[in-house]
Amino acid sequence: MKITVLGTGAVGQAQAAKLAELGHDVVMGTRDVQKKMNDSEGRAPFAPWIKQHPKVKLATLAEAAKHGELIIEALHGQTVVEELKNLAEDLKGKVLIDISNPLDFSKGMPPSLFICNTDSLAEQIQAALPDVKIVKAFNTTNATVQTEPQKLAGGDHHLFICGNDAEAKKQTTEIAQSYGWKNIIDLGDLKSARGMEMILPIWVQLMGTLKTPAFNFKIAQ
Ligand SMILES: NC(=O)c1ccc[n+]([C@@H]2O[C@H](COP(=O)([O-])OP(=O)(O)OC[C@H]3O[C@@H](n4cnc5c(N)ncnc54)[C@H](OP(=O)(O)O)[C@@H]3O)[C@@H](O)[C@H]2O)c1
Repeated sequence: MKITVLGTGAVGQAQAAKLAELGHDVVMGTRDVQKKMNDSEGRAPFAPWIKQHPKVKLATLAEAAKHGELIIEALHGQTVVEELKNLAEDLKGKVLIDISNPLDFSKGMPPSLFICNTDSLAEQIQAALPDVKIVKAFNTTNATVQTEPQKLAGGDHHLFICGNDAEAKKQTTEIAQSYGWKNIIDLGDLKSARGMEMILPIWVQLMGTLKTPAFNFKIAQ
C-alpha cells in the first residue's frame, strides 16, 4: 500500500521503518528535504537513519501528502494544524492517523497541554480538515513501543484509538495489528481524543519515575 508518514522525528522514523519492513511503499514528508538529509544531530538524527532504511523515500510535505492512500501524521503538536491546512487538497478523502500530542515545553519540564478538557488537537485537526478521516492512535505510547508492541510484556498491554469514521478506524486497527498489537480499545468518536491526549501528563511523570519510555498501559477488567 502507498503510505505517507508526515514527520521525520522518532515517531516518523519508527512508523516508516516498520511500514517499509512490512512491504509498504513509504514516503516521508519534511519541510526541507536538503536540510533533513544533512541532519546528523539531535534526538533522532535523520541522515544515519535514512542510510539504514534505503526503501523509505523522503519528500516535501506537499509531495508526500500526494503519495499516500493512507497518511500517518507525526508532526510537532504546536504547528501541526497549520502544516496540515496547507496540505488539505492532497489529503482530501484520505484516512489520517494522528499521533501528535498538544505538548507545550515553553516553561520547561514537565510539559503542559496547550489544548485539553473540552477540546483536543485531533478535533482541531478534524475541524481544519473536514474532508479527511482523522483517527487518533499511538499517541499514548513511545515511538519504539508503537511499532514493536510484542517486545514489551509479550504484547500484553493496550492501544487506544478513536475517530468518527468506522471504516477509517478499521483500517487503523489493521495497521496496528500488522505491527503486532493484540489489545486495541476503540474509545468511540473523536471527542475521546481529549482523554487520550490528557494521558500525557501521567505518561511523562511515569517516564521520569521509571527512567525509561519503554512502558505502556494495561487495562484490567
Ligand atoms: N517521541 C515519541 O515517542 C512520541 C510518542 C507519541 C506521540 N508523540 C508525538 O508525535 C509527534 C512527533 O514526535 P517526534 O518525537 O517524532 O518528533 P518532534 O520533534 O516532536 O516532531 C517531528 C516533526 O515535526 C516537525 N517539527 C519539529 N519541530 C517543529 C517546529 N518547531 N515547527 C514546525 N515543525 C516542527 C519536524 O519537521 P521537519 O521534518 O521539517 O524537521 C518533524 O518532522 C509529536 O506531536 C509528539 O508529541 C511522540
